[in-house]
Amino acid sequence: MVDQRSIGVAFLYLLLLLLFESTFEQQVQQQQQLSSGIELTALFELRSSLGLRSKDWPRKVDPCSSWNGIRCENGSVIWINISGFRRTRLGKQDPQFAVDSLANFTRLVSFNASRFLLPGSIPDWFGQRLLTLQVLDLRSCSVTGVIPSSLGNLTNLTSLYLSDNRLTGQISSTLGQLLSLSVLHLSKNLLTGSIPSSFGSLMNLTSLDISSNNLTGLIPPAIGALSKLQSLNLSNNSLTSAIPAQLGDLDSLIDLDLSSNDLSGLVPQDLGGLRNLQRIDFGKNGLSGSLPVNFFPSPSQLQVIVLRNNSFVGDLPEVLWSIPRLKLLDISRNNFTGTLPNSALNDNATAAELDISQNKFYGGLTTVLRRFSSTDLSGNYFEGRVPDYMHDNASLSSNCLQIVPNQRTLAECVSFYAERGLSFDNFGRPNSTERPVPESGKSNRRIIILAAVLGGAGLIVLLILLLLLVLCFRRRSSTNHRGIGVEPVPAGETPSPGVAINLSSLGDLFTYQQLLQATGDFSDANLIKHGHSGDLFRGILEGGSPVVIKRIDLQSIKKEAYLLELDFFSKVSHTRVVPLLGHCLEKENEKFLVYKYMPNGDLSSSLYRKNSLEDDSLQSLDWITRLKIAIGAAEGLSYLHHECMPPFVHRDVQASSILLDDKFEVRLGSLSEVCAQEGDGHQNRITRLLRFPQSSEQGSSGSSTALCAYDVYCFGKVLLGLVTGKLDISASSDTQMKEWLERTLPYISIYDKELVTKILDPSLLVDEDLLEEVWAMAIVARSCLNPKPSRRPLMRYILKALENPLRVVREDNSSSARLRTTSSRGSWNAALFGSWRQSSSDVAVIPAASTTKAEGGSSFKQSGTTGSQGSAQNGGGDHSSSRRRHSKEIFPEPSEAQDIERQDRD
Ligand SMILES: *[C@@H]1O[C@H](CO)[C@@H](O)[C@H](O)[C@H]1NC(C)=O
Ligand SMILES: *[C@@H]1O[C@H](CO)[C@@H](O)[C@H](O)[C@H]1NC(C)=O
Ligand SMILES: *[C@@H]1O[C@H](CO)[C@@H](O)[C@H](O)[C@H]1NC(C)=O
Ligand SMILES: *[C@@H]1O[C@H](CO)[C@@H](O)[C@H](O)[C@H]1NC(C)=O
Ligand SMILES: *[C@@H]1O[C@H](CO)[C@@H](O)[C@H](O)[C@H]1NC(C)=O
Ligand SMILES: *[C@@H]1O[C@H](CO)[C@@H](O)[C@H](O)[C@H]1NC(C)=O
Ligand SMILES: *[C@@H]1O[C@H](CO)[C@@H](O)[C@H](O)[C@H]1NC(C)=O
Ligand SMILES: *[C@@H]1O[C@H](CO)[C@@H](O)[C@H](O)[C@H]1NC(C)=O
Repeated sequence: MVDQRSIGVAFLYLLLLLLFESTFEQQVQQQQQLSSGIELTALFELRSSLGLRSKDWPRKVDPCSSWNGIRCENGSVIWINISGFRRTRLGKQDPQFAVDSLANFTRLVSFNASRFLLPGSIPDWFGQRLLTLQVLDLRSCSVTGVIPSSLGNLTNLTSLYLSDNRLTGQISSTLGQLLSLSVLHLSKNLLTGSIPSSFGSLMNLTSLDISSNNLTGLIPPAIGALSKLQSLNLSNNSLTSAIPAQLGDLDSLIDLDLSSNDLSGLVPQDLGGLRNLQRIDFGKNGLSGSLPVNFFPSPSQLQVIVLRNNSFVGDLPEVLWSIPRLKLLDISRNNFTGTLPNSALNDNATAAELDISQNKFYGGLTTVLRRFSSTDLSGNYFEGRVPDYMHDNASLSSNCLQIVPNQRTLAECVSFYAERGLSFDNFGRPNSTERPVPESGKSNRRIIILAAVLGGAGLIVLLILLLLLVLCFRRRSSTNHRGIGVEPVPAGETPSPGVAINLSSLGDLFTYQQLLQATGDFSDANLIKHGHSGDLFRGILEGGSPVVIKRIDLQSIKKEAYLLELDFFSKVSHTRVVPLLGHCLEKENEKFLVYKYMPNGDLSSSLYRKNSLEDDSLQSLDWITRLKIAIGAAEGLSYLHHECMPPFVHRDVQASSILLDDKFEVRLGSLSEVCAQEGDGHQNRITRLLRFPQSSEQGSSGSSTALCAYDVYCFGKVLLGLVTGKLDISASSDTQMKEWLERTLPYISIYDKELVTKILDPSLLVDEDLLEEVWAMAIVARSCLNPKPSRRPLMRYILKALENPLRVVREDNSSSARLRTTSSRGSWNAALFGSWRQSSSDVAVIPAASTTKAEGGSSFKQSGTTGSQGSAQNGGGDHSSSRRRHSKEIFPEPSEAQDIERQDRD
């Protein structure tokens, strides 16, 4: 029984609980439910007048809890949002701005119908009946007609969006009464007239957008009072006159867009009050004058600056270059001028876009460009070389830059710079053709000569070449893999990178960043010279040690050049060769080799610099040093020619290749053309022909440059330069060189010491003893300059001769007969003089005293046709020998020698 009772109590309790719960739920539901019948009717009227779908607003359920876009409060509708709703099929047939029943919602706060088609004009009664409205959003509703002035009665309105419609007429000044307004967007309509100055009362406005209308007149200065305004967009209208200075008071402004109007005049001085500005766009107006220096006194927030398409002139305020958060600077299509500042980069600076195209900037490109990830510099007058940090996508056309396509004409550039009293760098080319600049001038001339030769030979040669190429390629491809990695790569053949070259033996691996740092971004100030195998820069490594860095631009320099050099360094290391400290091959189009810095530069600069100052000739290198340098260079070359297997040919022996350390010890440089001498100095014609076009591109001489004898010839010129002080002559044209040799060589005779004083460098002070050494070096030089490669002495004999200069002159003078007879035992002196004696003979047999006699006897012979270097080029082969037999030798033979010789024989 007890059990039954307790069960009964429990049941009762449960029942009570359920009852209570249900009444509670009812109460809550009543709160949410629409309580006003008027509003319910109004909602259904709205539903049918707008043609809304029952999917969104279903029948037989409570609108407050179940309809999309309806919100209620205390049983009244406060929020209607039909944004983006679709109409029923019937509703689509005749869409209307039919919202009369809105008037029955007495507490409506927000009506949002954006992107819902409401063709028709905004009813006048909106301003009388929707007084509770705070948000009216009719964006993209195809609303037409004028904005009713009664809207000015909606004083509780905080947001009014009417953009992207077809509203016409003027903007009613009554909108200025909407004192609570925070957002006013009227953009993309057909509004005309001017901006009401009553807008100046909208003190709570944060965003004003009236862009893309047909507004005229001026920007009301009163707008400057809107102290909460963050965004002001008046772009794409026809507003005129100047920008009111009062806009500078908008100290909350973040985004200011006045672009695409007809604004004119100067930019006001005091826009500096825009302390929070992030984006400013004055583009496409007629603004003129120069920018006030304090245009952006506190640019810390600025990210976007657009001043394009105006008529601004003058310099850009420097502050614009160092804005920390900049993302875009577009000042294109103005008449800004000036040079880029050389300012240091702010570490915190973001990457940015830069467009300064179509202005009048000039001068060199500087490091301020580093932070910009995209750059348009086209249509200016920048000159000089394009620095490494410039991105590949940079637009550089129509400037005055070096080595860049589509630049302005020389005349344009020269006259632009001349107007400013500046001189133009002439695209980096020499100003006049009279004074040739060593490297580029020489190679240019060679290319011209080669082009002429090739042109003359014509199609036939080309065809033959092609045929031979095909034949040769077939042969090579079958025998190609034999020697890789073991033997030096023959001249003209591309070494395969990675296979043949052991990079680990090539010093340190540098990163590109390290090299940028070392050279100050390869600044012009650190440029030593533009070499034919790359640009040389001086640099300081992090540890403080000075280096020379060669930058090889693979777009203008053949890849083979640096690979040959690397290959060379991987096999050779010698005290007479400039030390390679490391390399940086990480960039695709640019490679870098790092050498030890040579404090005394190269021979050409050491001697030339001193000699160029006419008054203090005492400073020129003394004879002892000159001889020391000659010996050092000979040691280096002798090592290459005789101690390497197979022999290496330097191919670029000249004063500028002879580098000098602090003690004037020689280190050979310019090793980009080094190659192994092929086949014992005898090359077959096919290889020579095949190599011809390639070496022409590299600016080196023809095939015979791959012979050690070519080095000897070039070394002869250096020696003669040391004697005469005219080292630069070897860098001059072939014709000049030839003439000079013709004038100089007659003064070198083994039988007349005094003769050499006629060509002696006037700045050299030499006594009688030293004169003998000078004389000896001159004699050695002359024997090196023998036009026949086979008659030139070997480098090891030249070295011996330079080491023992007095024996050259004394022994030969006193007992030339003995020397000749001992020539068979191969003494250096005999070899040297053997070649000397042979020099005028045309018999192509290596020194054999017996053959010389037949042809001897003539006095000095002069060269007729080709320059000396041309002879050297031809010397390797025999195809030109018949022509040369008729031409006279450039190398004069002392007749006395022949006479004595004859006497000896007799
Ligand atoms: C709704 O408002 C309209 C216009 O003000 C009025 O004519 C109509 O009677 C109202 N409807 C109801 C149910 O009160
Ligand atoms: C405007 O808003 C205030 C406060 O929100 C309110 O007291 C006032 O009644 C509103 N005015 C109208 C016309 O609804
Ligand atoms: C609303 O504004 C119009 C004109 O803008 C005015 O005539 C009218 O009296 C105002 N109505 C109310 C209720 O304030
Ligand atoms: C402007 O906004 C502030 C705060 O946002 C508010 O207190 C003030 O009442 C508003 N002024 C008007 C005229 O609505
Ligand atoms: C607005 O200006 C444009 C260009 O002047 C013109 O084509 C267009 O018809 C104008 N619209 C109105 C409504 O005046
Ligand atoms: C720049 O100046 C020239 C003449 O000095 C003028 O012809 C040109 O229209 C100007 N360009 C701009 C964009 O103002
Ligand atoms: C870079 O940023 C740091 C920290 O944000 C700041 O301390 C430093 O001053 C900034 N440097 C510059 C040059 O703006
Ligand atoms: C050309 O001459 C000007 C001075 O007239 C000089 O500034 C400029 O460096 C020279 N350019 C070259 C490549 O020599």
